[in-house]
Amino acid sequence: MLDDGAPRIAGKRVALGVAGGIAAYKAVEIMRGLQRAGCAVRVALTRHACEFIRPLTFRALTDEPVIVDDYAPENPDPIAHISFSQQIDLFLVAPATANLLAKFAAGLADDFLTTTYLATTAPVIVAPAMNPQMWHHPATQRAIAQLRADGVHIIEPDRGEMACGAVGPGRLSEPEKVVQAALRLLDAHGRARDLTGERILITAGATREEIDPVRFISNRSSGRMGFALAEAALARGAQATVVAAATSAPEPCGARIVRVSSAEEMLRAVMSELPDATIFIAAAAVADYRPVMRAPQKIKKSDRRLTLELEPTPDILAEVARQKRDALVVVGFAAETERVAERARAKLERKGLDLIVANDVSQEGAGFDTETNIVTLIARDRARDLPRMTKLEVAHRVLDEAKRLRAMQMADGSTAKTVR
Ligand code: C5P
Repeated sequence: MLDDGAPRIAGKRVALGVAGGIAAYKAVEIMRGLQRAGCAVRVALTRHACEFIRPLTFRALTDEPVIVDDYAPENPDPIAHISFSQQIDLFLVAPATANLLAKFAAGLADDFLTTTYLATTAPVIVAPAMNPQMWHHPATQRAIAQLRADGVHIIEPDRGEMACGAVGPGRLSEPEKVVQAALRLLDAHGRARDLTGERILITAGATREEIDPVRFISNRSSGRMGFALAEAALARGAQATVVAAATSAPEPCGARIVRVSSAEEMLRAVMSELPDATIFIAAAAVADYRPVMRAPQKIKKSDRRLTLELEPTPDILAEVARQKRDALVVVGFAAETERVAERARAKLERKGLDLIVANDVSQEGAGFDTETNIVTLIARDRARDLPRMTKLEVAHRVLDEAKRLRAMQMADGSTAKTVR
């Protein structure tokens, strides 16, 4: 079945656990965001959370009973932690306090939320929130490391000013980001693992070409498209390696990330990873030019004009295509502002690619550092215009097409072998 790239969210059941921190009120916004996306949300609070927000707030907004204590006389289900934990597609705790994280990590089960954690088979995400001192404490960091090793997804807290006046990491990640992380995980679990066995090598981010020890030439790429490709590949059972230059988007959970800075370094890293890859996707915004000379010391300011001499960087994508082995699928991106399809097709031919993802970066909602993109997928045998969609959805469509091309190349390879 062809994957249409659309997220599979409608009707998913999410258990939202709320622990006792000042950020507990933000759980309402998270719950609303999940509901807007089509999820059925049930809420459970720790006893301490009830000091910050009333269960009635959630009861009124979900039209479902809110569980605090499963032994409470008004609870209709005597083994609620078991039935509740078996009927959910995702267990999300936001905010998660230091206490709750430590209990999860140690496997303690002394209330409804901790028992649900042990009893559920659904994926678990926690969004910690606490004072920076508590966040940095080795005991909390040990709990986080343990939870990661146990397969729990952690939404790192933001930096900023806390309710207690302290500044540092520990603030609950923005509700919108928590909702997005939850939706992505739900989507990943609903997908067929149709790329199992594929090894996908992706470039991402903006290269930096040094002028002197403190200055460089770069661009606005956030790395979001490359990371979305890795996330989509992993969700569908592939292995993903990302050779990443400078990025500002969050790294995908579970991908192998090889960090580089310049185009030259990216080329070297790609060439050393390539023998293992079955699909190569160049989503990085590689600088086209670099300074001929990197000044060894910081260039001093003066009143005179300064001329920088630039030379072309290596074209990584073209180099990969030149060295292409049998059945390796090579995919490039083409960011254009005019005659998009025509120029992209010319690039496909010139660089010897199997697929090119063309986008008109002058359009609203497309291109660099945005959440969405509007692209045309151009292969040698067909071209498809896609509507505006999130970069994760674009990533799934690109992988659908790469999968099709890979199957064609493998079929060609086996025919060639038989004929020979
Ligand atoms: O030639 P142009 O820069 O327009 O091609 C864009 C495509 O080529 C993108 O996929 C980009 O990642 C890749 N590229 C590359 N190395 C370069 C320049 C672009 O891999 N030096």
